[in-house]
Amino acid sequence: MTLDLRLATRGITAFLLAGAAFAAQASDDVAAPHDHAAHMAAMQAAAEAKAAAAKSRWNGDYFPNIPLVDQDGNHLNFFDDVIKDKVVAINFIFTSCTDSCPLETARLREVRQILGDRVGKDVFFYSISIDPETDTPEVLKAYAEKYDTGPGWRFLTGDKDEIILLRKRLGLYLEDIAKDSTDHNLSLIIGNQSTGRWMKSSPFENPHILATQLGSWLHNWKDRKSGRNDYAKAPELRKLTRGEELFRTRCAACHTFGAAAESVASLRRIGPDLKGVTDRREQTWLVRWLSEPDRMIAEKDPIATALLAEYRNVMMPNLRLSRVDVAALLEFMRNESARVVAQAAR
Ligand code: HEC
Repeated sequence: MTLDLRLATRGITAFLLAGAAFAAQASDDVAAPHDHAAHMAAMQAAAEAKAAAAKSRWNGDYFPNIPLVDQDGNHLNFFDDVIKDKVVAINFIFTSCTDSCPLETARLREVRQILGDRVGKDVFFYSISIDPETDTPEVLKAYAEKYDTGPGWRFLTGDKDEIILLRKRLGLYLEDIAKDSTDHNLSLIIGNQSTGRWMKSSPFENPHILATQLGSWLHNWKDRKSGRNDYAKAPELRKLTRGEELFRTRCAACHTFGAAAESVASLRRIGPDLKGVTDRREQTWLVRWLSEPDRMIAEKDPIATALLAEYRNVMMPNLRLSRVDVAALLEFMRNESARVVAQAAR
């Protein structure tokens, strides 16, 4: 009974809808001959509005053109000078951050190195401070120098509220970003303003993938290299242990294992080479160091203090590792040291 009723109601609705459509069409037909010019003008205006709306979605109406200053004191406006017609990588940082920002900066630095001199020409890197009161252009300059970020990567500061607005528009605004480091994971966005393609990216993303996205995908593969790799020849992936996976995503941006002193890898490094580190440091020291390097630095642990001075005052970040993670990393570092030593002996 209920079913019948529902079917009946649906039938009536369909009938009414059909009737309305018919009525609308009829009135159109009637109106057209009388007022053809007005009708065409209205249609055109509607089409124009639609085109403008489509275009304006990601243009200067959407993105605030807020004034910003870079680490060299140059003044820029966000829409006009930072993103307009460009392929960009934008992240939000603050220089006093002791956990995720240093890792993110180190990872972006790897991406920057892969892209080489294209950065500043057809791919642009920006790190915008979410703590602009502390991060003056001078402070940002010192930060850029500390991480040796190289040319083509601008560090920007500006008005606090305007930067909050910007983060909201970029979909990267999170309350209490400073307090909860895990929220900071998604603070990188890459995109092409003119095509309107944007995507959020994790700073833990493989730097080669990020470089490909920035250098090729967002450029519609316009400078595709000849002799591309094909899938048939792709090397097989080794199965990674938990420790190795953690190391690659959380540590490799700053550390190497047994890189020769003059090698490119060694020049790119931010922190110490870790070959043999499980032999040269006490196990308890290492466990604590991986768990809370920031506190050990604050407490002036003698080894930490010496290392800090040696490494341009770049602080090893607190990566909020669990005990299980720390154990897995220690095991990996032990095995990797042994592997590198054995390889060198061959
Ligand atoms: C942003 C860069 C950065 C990241 C990411 C990073 N480190 Fe470090 N690490 C450093 C720096 C710099 C030092 C030297 C001490 C200092 O300046 O704080 C250091 C020191 C160390 C040391 C002591 C080395 C020695 O000679 O005693 C170990 C061990 C270490 N890191 C392991 C790790 C592991 C494991 C990870 C990943 C979970 C990691 N680090 C992530 C920068 C980093």
